[in-house]
Amino acid sequence: MDNTLIISDMHMPYHHPDAMAFIKANKDWYGLEKAKCTGDVVDLHTSSFHLIEYGCLSPKEEYQAAYKGIQQLSEMYPELTVVLGNHDILTYRKAKLAGISEDHIKSYNDVYGVNWKWVDKDYFKVDKYNNCLLTHTMGANTQSNARNHSHNSIQGHHHSVFNISYFADTEVLRWSMSAGCLIDPKQPAFNYAQGATLKRPIIGMGAIIDNEPRLLRMQLKKNGRWDNSV
Ligand SMILES: [Fe+2]
Repeated sequence: MDNTLIISDMHMPYHHPDAMAFIKANKDWYGLEKAKCTGDVVDLHTSSFHLIEYGCLSPKEEYQAAYKGIQQLSEMYPELTVVLGNHDILTYRKAKLAGISEDHIKSYNDVYGVNWKWVDKDYFKVDKYNNCLLTHTMGANTQSNARNHSHNSIQGHHHSVFNISYFADTEVLRWSMSAGCLIDPKQPAFNYAQGATLKRPIIGMGAIIDNEPRLLRMQLKKNGRWDNSV
């Protein structure tokens, strides 16, 4: 398959301040002309079923800022494939809860002004021997995913999990990737992830280069900003 960037959960507009530049730098360095996304493109914090944190944007501000980010990403990848994440579908869940017919709801492309492919899952060919399933989430244990599925696999969702595991037995060798995330951990929208665990998000993304899975970690300085290395 063509070399492909795997963009991890961005949670726009609460994405890392260097996420777009990091994506562009890796696109150029590795020649990643195609891309797929693990979902949670948007955070939709104000549509959350949980309490809204102090210091977050209003619904209108959040939408406008996310729209701007999505436009930037679309300039780099006008034909992105996105597997829908639990955050992407929050407004649909709220509409369903309110008994609103889906006929009254705009498509993701209309909402965000892009021409992307939004799907529940993406099953694609890696090489003549192997296929790969991209979904927003499977289990948090990447080794179990490699062991349990009959194909290679890629997921997002687990922001603190950033690894590739391989499983082999007599007849097969499979890999599974967990691609971390591209969020800004300092944003109050992520306060829910603090306190209960010492795990921190790992800022990075994935790629398939020469038919092999790769992890692209964002090297951070002490202040949490990218050091511009690829
Ligand atoms: Fe996420």
